[in-house]
Amino acid sequence: MAPPAPSSRTTLSRAVLYLLLLLSLQVAAPAAAAMDPAERETLLRVMESVSADRDWREAAGADPCSAPWPGLECRPGTAAARMHVARLDFGVPPHPTCRDTATFPLAAFALPELRSLFLVGCFRNPRAVAAFTLPPASNLSASRLQQLSVRSNPSLAGALPPQLARLRSLRVLTVSQNALVRGAVPEGIGDLAGLVHLDLSYNSLTGPIPARLGGLRGLVGLDLSYNSFSGPIPGRLGDLAQLQKLDLSSNNLTGGVPAAVTRLRALTFLALANNGLRGRLPAGLSALRDLQYLILENNPMGGVPLPPELGNIPRLQELRLANSGYSGPIPDTFRLLSSLTTLSLENNNLTGRIPPGLSRLKRMYHLNLSKNGLDGVVPFDAAFLRRLGRNLDLSGNPGLCVTNRAVMPGVGVGVCGDDVVDCERSAAAESSVVGRVVRGEVTTGRWPAGLLRPAAVALCSCLLL
Ligand SMILES: *[C@@H]1O[C@H](CO)[C@@H](O)[C@H](O)[C@H]1NC(C)=O
Ligand SMILES: *[C@@H]1O[C@H](CO)[C@@H](O)[C@H](O)[C@H]1NC(C)=O
Ligand SMILES: *[C@@H]1O[C@H](CO)[C@@H](O)[C@H](O)[C@H]1NC(C)=O
Ligand SMILES: *[C@@H]1O[C@H](CO)[C@@H](O)[C@H](O)[C@H]1NC(C)=O
Repeated sequence: MAPPAPSSRTTLSRAVLYLLLLLSLQVAAPAAAAMDPAERETLLRVMESVSADRDWREAAGADPCSAPWPGLECRPGTAAARMHVARLDFGVPPHPTCRDTATFPLAAFALPELRSLFLVGCFRNPRAVAAFTLPPASNLSASRLQQLSVRSNPSLAGALPPQLARLRSLRVLTVSQNALVRGAVPEGIGDLAGLVHLDLSYNSLTGPIPARLGGLRGLVGLDLSYNSFSGPIPGRLGDLAQLQKLDLSSNNLTGGVPAAVTRLRALTFLALANNGLRGRLPAGLSALRDLQYLILENNPMGGVPLPPELGNIPRLQELRLANSGYSGPIPDTFRLLSSLTTLSLENNNLTGRIPPGLSRLKRMYHLNLSKNGLDGVVPFDAAFLRRLGRNLDLSGNPGLCVTNRAVMPGVGVGVCGDDVVDCERSAAAESSVVGRVVRGEVTTGRWPAGLLRPAAVALCSCLLL
């Protein structure tokens, strides 16, 4: 459940900036002496534990930083006399690929100036499972590592090492898509006060979400999705005042959606889908002024109504609440969601009319209201029906019908009986409650009279009263 990728232009300009920075580093230190021989030896041990596609001792020469290979970056030390290893990147070409029997490169943590370590798609051999381990805590206290990324390693196994808590300079910690990494999140991760991004998604982690993560006050992104975390969502996560993205979807979380989420005023993306959450949504969600994605589908909320307050989240683009047992009407306030592109409410127990105001939402392009108990005449005009096309699904609402001049194939709703239309017309003329009568020009496949729903007829007599 990822938010949209940054535009390639941003990525490109970042890459250019980075390149300039690298060039300037090298120009600024033209007279740097060769790498310290002990550090060179450590680097060679790292290369040999992970990659064996060449003879690194021969290839490296006396000073690897004088002609770094892809995946190796160097920077001058603080005393500027020597170059040091600053970044190592393994797994995906052009970076060195990993050998079949690669082991987790413990030696890398002895490189004194290492800032970034990437192991992406490195441990992939099902016959040689590698262990996720770190050096003893006492060896890590001087670490300057800011970014550790261990991603897409199907043959890396073990628990998250508790020594991660000693990597006090970490700003970005990604341990993601390593199906064999299991067990609990070490409590000590709550001590990594400099963390900005924590991504532990797509592993096999279990146990509760540690409440101490609420102490990571600089956190901007927290992604724990696609694991087996259980228990309630800790209220302390509400302390994460900088948090923009919170993704806890696809776990075994239970309890309610905590009111604490309404304190996350910087949120743009909130996903709690595919869990065991139940009960009413907390009051105060409209305080999330920047929220663009609210993704809560597939939770057994249990017959609760949709709060009208959801219509007052001004920047909402996607609202996904399908398969969750919501009952009662679709709030009329949803007409206020002027940025909405996707509204997904299928497979609930929603009843009553479709709010006519939905058809005035100019950005809407995906609307799924299927499998509910909605009834009445579909209040969408021909332009709206055309715009949504196949992205509109109203099927599985036996009480809904469309007027014969607005039939669109595939919407999944039958044509209203003439008496129903007449009845809607006279009702619309008398009051504005029903909304405007559909005036389309497309006339395709009028449904056989035999398929007319008794519910629609019942509606008519009801309106005539
Ligand atoms: C930890 O540090 C000790 C001494 O400082 C050293 O001998 C040992 O090799 C280090 N262990 C690792 C795994 O780096
Ligand atoms: C999570 O829930 C699924 C389905 O409800 C269940 O099969 C699985 O055993 C649970 N896992 C844990 C770790 O509780
Ligand atoms: C809808 O309500 C009925 C009874 O009112 C209930 O049996 C059914 O489980 C509900 N459906 C959902 C998806 O909650
Ligand atoms: C609407 O949701 C149903 C699931 O209930 C799904 O089968 C269908 O493909 C969806 N329709 C659209 C247009 O997304």
